[in-house]
Amino acid sequence: MSMITLVATCLWFLLVSNFTGANQLNINCLQSIKSQVEDPNDYLSSWVFSNTTQGFICKFSGVSCWHDDESRVLSIKLSGYGLIGEFPQGIKDCSDLVGLDLSRNNFSGALPSNMTDLVPLLTILDLSYNQFSDEIPPSLSNITYLNTLMLQHNQFTGPLPSLLAQLRRLSRLSVANNRLTGPVPDFDSSLNFGLDSFANNPDLCGSPLDACPDPEEGIMKSGMIGAMVGAAIFAPVSAFLDWVFFNGKKETRR
Ligand SMILES: *[C@@H]1O[C@H](CO)[C@@H](O)[C@H](O)[C@H]1NC(C)=O
Ligand SMILES: *[C@@H]1O[C@H](CO)[C@@H](O)[C@H](O)[C@H]1NC(C)=O
Ligand SMILES: *[C@@H]1O[C@H](CO)[C@@H](O)[C@H](O)[C@H]1NC(C)=O
Ligand SMILES: *[C@@H]1O[C@H](CO)[C@@H](O)[C@H](O)[C@H]1NC(C)=O
Repeated sequence: MSMITLVATCLWFLLVSNFTGANQLNINCLQSIKSQVEDPNDYLSSWVFSNTTQGFICKFSGVSCWHDDESRVLSIKLSGYGLIGEFPQGIKDCSDLVGLDLSRNNFSGALPSNMTDLVPLLTILDLSYNQFSDEIPPSLSNITYLNTLMLQHNQFTGPLPSLLAQLRRLSRLSVANNRLTGPVPDFDSSLNFGLDSFANNPDLCGSPLDACPDPEEGIMKSGMIGAMVGAAIFAPVSAFLDWVFFNGKKETRR
C-alpha cells in the first residue's frame, strides 16, 4: 500500500516536474527571443513576463499554444513586425514548435548551421522578405516534417543544398530573389515546383530553369585552351632545343 503510494507519488512528481519544466523552457524561449531582437515598433509590448498564470504566454501577440492554459508554444508568427536582428537561437527552447513565420522583417546574417537542432519539428518555416545572407544551411534537410519552406527575397548566396530533395513532405518551396548559384536539387518530379520557386537567382540553373552549362563541354574547352597554351609555349622551346641540338651536332662534326 505504502509502496504503491510511493510509486504513484514519484510518477506524479515526475509528470508534474516534467510538465512545469517544459513550460518554463517555453517561457525562457520567448523571453530570449524578445531580448535577442530589436523591436522599434514595440509590437512585442504584450510580451510581459511578470504575470505567470498558467498559459499566460499564449496571449502574447503572434504566439499560439497547443492548449490555451498550458505554456507550450505551437507556432510563432511575427510577420511584418519590423524586427531587426539575427535568427534568434533561443527558439530552441520552444521545443514543440511546428510553425515559424519571421517573414517581412529586417532579420539579417547567416542562418545557424544547426537549424535541425534548433527547430527539429517545424512543418512551416517562412523567413521570406528579410536580409538573411550566406549559404542556406544543408541541415534544413533534416527537419523531417517540413512541408513549407519560404526563403524568397533574402540575400542568400552559394548553392541550394542538394539534400533539400530529401524532404519528403515538402509541398511549398520558394527561394526566388536571392543570389544562389549552381544546380536546382533533384526534387521529386511529382512536386512540380515551378519557375516561381527559383526565379531571379542569376546563377541558379537546371530544370525548371535553363539547363546548367555542360561540364564536359567545360572540360573540352579547358582541354583545348590547354593544348593551345601548350603549343604556344612548346613551339619556341622546341625551336630552341632544335637549335641547341643542331649547333651541338655541328660542333661535334667540326
Ligand atoms: C494574468 O493573466 C491572466 C490571463 O491572461 C489574467 O486573467 C490575469 O488577470 C492576469 N493577472 C494580472 C495580475 O495581471
Ligand atoms: C531595415 O533596416 C534598414 C536600416 O537598417 C531600414 O532602412 C529599412 O527601412 C528597414 N526595413 C524594414 C522593412 O524595416
Ligand atoms: C547551434 O550552434 C551554435 C553555434 O553556431 C551553438 O552556440 C549552439 O549551442 C548550437 N545549438 C544547438 C542546440 O546545438
Ligand atoms: C542529418 O542527420 C543525420 C543523422 O543524425 C546526420 O548524420 C547528418 O549529418 C545530418 N545532415 C546534415 C546536413 O546536417
